[in-house]
Amino acid sequence: MERKELINGGKVKSVYNTTDEDKVIIEFRDDMTAGDGERKEVMNKKGCLNAVISSKIFQYLESKGIKTQFIELLENNVMLAQKLDMIPIEVIVRNIATGSLVRKYPIEDGTKLDPPIVQMDYKDDEFHDPMLNYSIIKALGIATQDEIDILVELAGKVNDALREFFDQAGIILVDFKIEFGRDEEGNIILGDEISPDSCRLWDKETLEMMDKELFRKGKDDEVMDAYLEVYNRVLSDDDKS
Ligand code: C5P
Repeated sequence: MERKELINGGKVKSVYNTTDEDKVIIEFRDDMTAGDGERKEVMNKKGCLNAVISSKIFQYLESKGIKTQFIELLENNVMLAQKLDMIPIEVIVRNIATGSLVRKYPIEDGTKLDPPIVQMDYKDDEFHDPMLNYSIIKALGIATQDEIDILVELAGKVNDALREFFDQAGIILVDFKIEFGRDEEGNIILGDEISPDSCRLWDKETLEMMDKELFRKGKDDEVMDAYLEVYNRVLSDDDKS
């Protein structure tokens, strides 16, 4: 599959058209950003770790009946994926209160959230990803009511599957962000990535952070060791060979 022109140069990934118009190539770069892209560093091997972890997770979700855009990993940091019309909504699921939730609302950090919170933010750095509600989504014209209902339902299913997936690796899934797109027929498909960049992950025993929050807190020298630990725990020996 040949790479054609760049169609989306994101903060940490580049998406290219391919010789097959239904498919895209997603390159996971080594860039790491925080604060809507205000802080940026290059972290060696980050692209590979995230692409491989994401691929493993997407294949696991497919095995649970959740459709994803993942087709195959072409190189360690390059994914072949189904081309989607991406919806500019970040769907965030929270199992434990932390991060922006406890900064904005009177909820104590670490509170278990049962049922989990499903939140939607408008994906736009210029506006700092403001939180959406149904009326705002409709006013912006970015999704229909039926699509919103599907996003919420799928977010719950992804959460149930991922909690189990990470639990088996001795990891607590605190919260995460996912993105969806539409295929040619208008079906809603899970896209983008699911990795330590987009999830908060805590070690089940020590509650130590194993995700991008370390970078957000300025612990840059610990970040890649944490990502590598996630990689080692969620990938089998067969996956790694
Ligand atoms: O910062 P906040 O608490 O809202 O983040 C919730 C979850 O969504 C975290 O797992 C974070 O990594 C993820 N997130 C993301 N991309 C964003 C905003 C949040 O991956 N732009």
